[in-house]
Amino acid sequence: MSILVKIADLDLSNKVVLLREDYNVPMKDGVISDDTRIVATLPTIKQILEGGAKIIIVSHLGRPKEGEYDKSFSLAPVAKALGNYLGAEIPIIKNWTNGIEMSNCNIVLCENVRFEKGEVTNDDDLSRKMAQLCQVYINDAFATSHRAQSSTHGVAKYAAVSAAGPLLINELKALTRGLRKPDKPIVAVIGGAKVSTKLTVLEKLYEKIDKLILGGGIANTFLKAAGYEIGKSLYEKDLVEASTKILREATKYNCDIPLPVDVVTGENFHEETVATIKSIDEIGKNDMIMDVGPKTIENLNKIINEAQTIVWNGPLGVFEFDQFANGTKRLANAIAASNAYSIAGGGDTIAAISKFKVEKNISYISTGGGAFLEFLEGKKLPAIAILEEAARAWIAMEKGREL
Ligand code: 3PG
Repeated sequence: MSILVKIADLDLSNKVVLLREDYNVPMKDGVISDDTRIVATLPTIKQILEGGAKIIIVSHLGRPKEGEYDKSFSLAPVAKALGNYLGAEIPIIKNWTNGIEMSNCNIVLCENVRFEKGEVTNDDDLSRKMAQLCQVYINDAFATSHRAQSSTHGVAKYAAVSAAGPLLINELKALTRGLRKPDKPIVAVIGGAKVSTKLTVLEKLYEKIDKLILGGGIANTFLKAAGYEIGKSLYEKDLVEASTKILREATKYNCDIPLPVDVVTGENFHEETVATIKSIDEIGKNDMIMDVGPKTIENLNKIINEAQTIVWNGPLGVFEFDQFANGTKRLANAIAASNAYSIAGGGDTIAAISKFKVEKNISYISTGGGAFLEFLEGKKLPAIAILEEAARAWIAMEKGREL
């Protein structure tokens, strides 16, 4: 684990803390549809308050046009949800970069940081302004740590003290255990619609793991690469060659990529389309593969059973439609029942875990989507790198003080 300044290292009494969280939560018609990311931050907020500090929280939500307020990207619903959990009203502040009056409250939530010009470009002026709001900057937003933006990166250069929050530290510990020092055999399950969003992960993973289970549109592209007819199934033509290369290279590293031997098909992307189980060499021109079949599930169960470490990102099929949910459901149950150290991350994966109610039996559920994938790739996350730099400077300063 890297060297980071932790809350426990600091005296927070009577200080103002600028806390970066990731409240980029899924919303439907202005209502939060999954509050996992909000709930995950409550221990951090409580710990800072117990330390005697006041908290200014910043977060982004979605990708609004910068420099403009847009109600559809407002963090107001998050302020309300946070307030409900904390039993206090959390004011939402619109114009906050030049200073915030906090004499009457202990916590405020700033409006979407991406409404500010310069946030996404990691502008120095904005970063300095953020640093001036506080005595201590704490970044707890693991899920945004792959972004070098003002509130995740620039501010840490200018704040008097820059520290890592417990959620970020716990994420790093769990992912390091699962990915950097894993027990073998290691099985990764990478599902979802597109190879393109996960190509670099796939290209890195086979060097490190023993089995790579693919699902969804990703598996379809690999089936095509392996020469199977896949009818009207979702796949990426441009990535068939890259998938062929991965299949070939993986064998050199003794990584097995077991492709589906049977699948569940429909004729239309609709929840009421007739679901038919077919062997993988029976797929017709009008078939769409929407889930893995029972024989494939049995094979996967066996693999999951034998694993010591499991990394899961992405569903095996269209689990939103009940008749195509079985593969993802059985996978979720198998991971939950296994004795392996299991880590899951990504929006669809968290939705599947919640749908099939297996939260309690997954060793660690990451709040990260893109950050989780970049960690899987072995990339250095910029928001963590700047906190490490700040920690080295802080340690040197503390040592100087002791002399
Ligand atoms: C995420 O949901 O992955 C993070 O909040 C980052 O969001 P972004 O991709 O819009 O930067």
